Amino acid sequence: MTQPSDQGAALDNLLTESRSFPPSEEFAAEANATSALYDEATADREAFWAKQAERLHWDTKWTQVLDWSDAPFAKWFVGGRLNVAYNCVDRHVESGHGDQVAIHWEGEPGDQRAITYAELQREVSKAANALVSLGLRTGDRVAIYLPMIPEAIFSMLACARLGLPHSVVFGGFSAEALRTRIDDAEAKLVITSDGQFRRGSAVPLKAAVDEAVSRTPSVGNVLVVRRTGIDVEWTEGRDLWWHDVVDAQSDVHAPESFDAEHPLFILYTSGTTGKPKGILHTSGGYLTQAAYTHFNVFDLKPDTDVYWCTADIGWVTGHSYIVYGPLANRVTQVVYEGTPNTPHEGRHWEIVQRYGVSIYYTAPTTIRTFMKWGNDIPAKFDLSTLRVLGSVGEPINPEAWIWYRENIGGNRAPIVDTWWQTETGAIMISPLPGVIAAKPGSAQRPLPGIGAKVVDDTGAEVPAGGGGYLVLDEPWPAMLRGIWGDEQRYRETYWSRFAAQGFYFAGDGAKYDADGDIWLLGRVDDVMNVSGHRISTTEVESALVSHPTVAEAAVVGATDPTTGQGIVAFVILRGGVAQDQAKGAEAIKALRDHVAKEIGPIAKPRQIMVVPELPKTRSGKIMRRLLRDVAENRQVGDVTTLADSSVMDLISSGLNTSA
Ligand code: WT7
Repeated sequence: MTQPSDQGAALDNLLTESRSFPPSEEFAAEANATSALYDEATADREAFWAKQAERLHWDTKWTQVLDWSDAPFAKWFVGGRLNVAYNCVDRHVESGHGDQVAIHWEGEPGDQRAITYAELQREVSKAANALVSLGLRTGDRVAIYLPMIPEAIFSMLACARLGLPHSVVFGGFSAEALRTRIDDAEAKLVITSDGQFRRGSAVPLKAAVDEAVSRTPSVGNVLVVRRTGIDVEWTEGRDLWWHDVVDAQSDVHAPESFDAEHPLFILYTSGTTGKPKGILHTSGGYLTQAAYTHFNVFDLKPDTDVYWCTADIGWVTGHSYIVYGPLANRVTQVVYEGTPNTPHEGRHWEIVQRYGVSIYYTAPTTIRTFMKWGNDIPAKFDLSTLRVLGSVGEPINPEAWIWYRENIGGNRAPIVDTWWQTETGAIMISPLPGVIAAKPGSAQRPLPGIGAKVVDDTGAEVPAGGGGYLVLDEPWPAMLRGIWGDEQRYRETYWSRFAAQGFYFAGDGAKYDADGDIWLLGRVDDVMNVSGHRISTTEVESALVSHPTVAEAAVVGATDPTTGQGIVAFVILRGGVAQDQAKGAEAIKALRDHVAKEIGPIAKPRQIMVVPELPKTRSGKIMRRLLRDVAENRQVGDVTTLADSSVMDLISSGLNTSA
């Protein structure tokens, strides 16, 4: 395991950052959150969460806030019953907001659709009736493999309405990645589209489903949305068009209530081994924390704000901060299908201007990309409606934070740097705008009701100024309820490192500054963070060694100015492979494409270096630290624990000649 102190010099600079931006008086006076929230939560945590749960409509009230007797398996709002989709849709119609726009959707080619809450209720009801007509029953799993189109949200909510746990698979994942996820959850239905628009062209999507589903015995039907009109292969009896099946349904559907702990979704994320983990989330606690955090962290005013989270629903940010939290809060939001530079690099700012977006939530990698494109691009648009800016996915460097504040937020809008994970389900550490003076690069404090600490190897809290591991020391309502089908892995991954203290181990390094604010320093395990996406080194290594020319591979995440980390792979070729040819540009390209095919384009290594050996300890463990030194063009560090200390010379000299 990497020591937090190895996190790289760049991150140490964070701690010399001393600027701080207090909220304006006007903002503070109107803010949803006040410092009283901290006091209330400290006085009685469970009473605090019970109060937050009152944001939702419960068909049956709970009898106990938290049952932690079977730790680390939590039960929140025990005995409570609710329908998640009813909470996100129907109740807003019933309270007289049926005409409020829920979603301003914009497709990449420029097509637009405004969907009111009343329309959302009809669409979700039709989709729910369709799923029932296909024979799905409470508890059955549904895989959703769709681009950012309204049907993706209708599908998720229809599943929630029927108690069918969904497993959304990011549309950028390969057929093979989709297949393993469908298989692991034994999904009965896959919802997909013919294709999707990407950088101005229509690219196939259903083709990957056809390939995946040919080897997934659990799948009975594939429901296909027509998005691009491109040709698709068709399997009679299995494949169904959305417009045939869903449009024929009644637009009325009565929601039933489910237990607070009924599974809501499974979402796969990378761990330290090659096999992705199916993170399981349930209903009542998850929705409570998603709604509470969305309301307070983004200061949402449902009657006047226009909110926009740029994530894809294939990631947890899309689940919690496009679908569940915002809709539970009766948001009006923008959902955009495409990339930020199609057809021009001002696309996001054009959208902000068109809809009057007031809250904007994105990732540091996107902010750094905007920086690269230049200040003159956002300067051409009216961004004066923006009043809260958010960041998520990886540590944000102070330079990007300041650029965001000045060029997007007009030196006015508070920035919330929100730390959380797929596993935590909702935001855990973030400044509250209007309450906390923001510091560029720091997520600062656990939210009211959340317990987080920085501890050393022994689990003891480090003093102000000290660094170590981030742990969560109290159960929280949106916490994962396990890893689908693998109780042991759940215990080992998160709860064994600090078992004596009963802390959840987040896998991140962190430091306290002199004020006791938390600064996140990146992962301490073999998980890379590329553009805010978690990818495991082992997963990429297995993809590489599955190629016929590769004997062995080691993968590291190297610091990258735009994507946070870039994937750098070191490969040893098999004996008998014509070395010169296999080192050539063509061969390297073939390897990169092979990884994209096995996992998805997001996992394509930035760089692949062919080496004669890999640095290993006497026990055979690859020393990634040394490879990171090479990948980041640094003097190679201490080699004394290598089984053969000359290996690094061999690697370095080989690289010089092959370059
Ligand atoms: C990992 C979780 C949470 C949704 C997106 C990613 C890193 C996330 C921050 C932040 C520093 C952050 C951590 C974490 N991370 N947000 N604000 N500051 N690091 O979800 O794919 O589950 O990844 O992302 O390393 O463990 P995820």
